[in-house]
Amino acid sequence: MPIAASSPLTQAKTDGIAAVLNEGTVVLGIESSCDETAAAVLRRGADGKAELLSSIIASQDEEHAKFGGVVPEIAARAHMKKIDDIIEQALTKSGLDYSDLNAVAATAGPGLIGGVIAGLMAAKGLSMALDIPLIAVNHLEGHALSPRLASACPFPYLLLLVSGGHSQLLSVKGLGDYERLGSTVDDAAGEAFDKSAKVMGLGFPGGPNLERVAKMGNPEAVSLPRPFARTEHANFSFAGLKTAVARAWDKSDKSEEAQADLAASFQKAVCDVLSDRTQNAMDMFVKSAGPSDAPHRFVVAGGVASNASIRTALTELCTQNGFELIAPPLEFCTDNAAMIALAGAERLHAGERSALSVKARPRWPLDSKSAIQNPMSGSGKKGAKS
Ligand code: KG4
Ligand code: ZN
Repeated sequence: MPIAASSPLTQAKTDGIAAVLNEGTVVLGIESSCDETAAAVLRRGADGKAELLSSIIASQDEEHAKFGGVVPEIAARAHMKKIDDIIEQALTKSGLDYSDLNAVAATAGPGLIGGVIAGLMAAKGLSMALDIPLIAVNHLEGHALSPRLASACPFPYLLLLVSGGHSQLLSVKGLGDYERLGSTVDDAAGEAFDKSAKVMGLGFPGGPNLERVAKMGNPEAVSLPRPFARTEHANFSFAGLKTAVARAWDKSDKSEEAQADLAASFQKAVCDVLSDRTQNAMDMFVKSAGPSDAPHRFVVAGGVASNASIRTALTELCTQNGFELIAPPLEFCTDNAAMIALAGAERLHAGERSALSVKARPRWPLDSKSAIQNPMSGSGKKGAKS
């Protein structure tokens, strides 16, 4: 990922960084790509072990709830209003001071451009004022590395990244070395949860609300499609499922029972689709990784990975295929700055620095090679979406 560039650090500071890299580094992470304003302080030892010292997340649910979804302009303003205070809180909670920071890492994309700019500008200001390196982080790389915040998760591993903006299956071979095995051709899984929840009047945020209501319903009650089922590739499609939910809701009696049954049936369909697509990706992963004495690792990350039924379905799939399941704790599934600090620390240790002129990128595919050659979810003047 081409984020390395010369930074305007003084030579003394550059030498200083080289010295602390041998001892370990303290990195401030900043996240503002959607509707969570977050900051975290993480210490990375020279042995590669990460210790999270603080993680603060301010949700904007209240600001967006009355609109039934995230409004980009409102999100950007809320980030700008909250970001300084959230950074201050993260530092206070870590017990450290600004002068203890060795680098500042911020999400530079992909995401809602106004929000990304708010976080990135705060990071640039700190980088300049403290004369410490700036690391521009790909938000998706944060999700991809998030299991490593809580447990040992050596490369390589198969990753299912399911969030509000993305649904991808990737082979994670190393830092910055990602091969996409499959991706959504239309909506993301989280988007399907949110839009289905909205249609059923379940409010915002849709995913968690739908999961709560689904517990009371019958997952076999409503017949819904399983897009791409039993096809050989590992791509996803959720648009048809979302439309089928809207049709079923229109025809229903709109009772609480109907709501619960449709929510449970939708959730079951998503579980089936994710399992079916991941099965193909597992076959591809094993074929390319070759036989192994130890089980291959499978990671599920992103906001949708907090869904208990999805975790259960993927646990069963892993058992059937001899994979070890590694799922980050819930606080690291949804957007957070700890994963951004971790990705930043890893890139800092790999020798990367971002220039102060680094730009916020609304689109920034994780595996730029295959996304450019074969974008799954559209490509315009601004480049491939994913
Ligand atoms: O990773 P994330 O916080 O933000 C993005 O990078 O998009 O993911 C947010 C998405 C939303 O679509 C939200 O509805 C979904 O994750 N989500 C869930 C659950 N919790 C969050 N979906 C299903 N079940 C949940 N429990
Ligand atoms: Zn995310």
